[in-house]
Amino acid sequence: MNGIPSESARNDVDVLLEHNYDGIQEYDNPTPGWWWWIFIATFVFSVVYFIFFQFSPVSWTIHESYDVATAELLRRQFGDLRLEPDEATILRYMNEPEWLLVGRSVFQGKCTQCHGRNGEGLVGPNMTDDHYKNVKKVSDIAQVIANGAANGAMPAHKNQLHPNEIVLTASYIASLRGMNLPGRAPEGEIIPPWPAPPAPPRNDQATDEPR
Ligand code: HEC
Repeated sequence: MNGIPSESARNDVDVLLEHNYDGIQEYDNPTPGWWWWIFIATFVFSVVYFIFFQFSPVSWTIHESYDVATAELLRRQFGDLRLEPDEATILRYMNEPEWLLVGRSVFQGKCTQCHGRNGEGLVGPNMTDDHYKNVKKVSDIAQVIANGAANGAMPAHKNQLHPNEIVLTASYIASLRGMNLPGRAPEGEIIPPWPAPPAPPRNDQATDEPR
């Protein structure tokens, strides 16, 4: 095999190669040029693919696409569901991993630029420690998300998010507490731990029939 065949080699008909093994001979039929170019293209593609998915900050993993799809499905199920931004609801959804994905996807879309990819804080406070500036109880988180804080340094989101998304994002933020990720230094005051979540509704229907 000697590289990409020339135009003329491909047009020649039935040229015999010199070797002869007990009467068995071989035609000089090189691999066609189009085949070579497809082969080279697959190789180039694999390099681009590898670099993109290993090193690019904008690439995604299979798990991330799955989470996004699940969150989208749950969002469609919102339909007539109406979550109240109160303590019991926010605490309850902290223990519903699938619904928490909705909060996580909102957080990743709208909050990470100020609060860091994992809530460790950038211009906005670290959400993973026990210190809070505007939050004394868990329902304050939903208040801050909806109405903002510090004259808009923390923007109000009530016109950008569905009321249910505000509740589920508050649950997600509350769930980050205690991870204590290294990031922005603690700000504000230490507040008491979140109360225990309310008992699940009878018949254990918590997961498929949110009220
Ligand atoms: C433009 C930057 C910015 C964006 C975007 C942003 N925040 Fe904030 N956030 C801040 C700042 C700054 C503060 C601190 C306000 C203060 O100093 O009182 C804050 C405070 C908060 C607090 C209160 C924390 C505390 O210690 O009291 C919560 C909760 C919060 N943000 C959640 C969110 C969520 C959820 C989103 C996305 C829906 C979001 N933020 C988007 C900048 C931002």
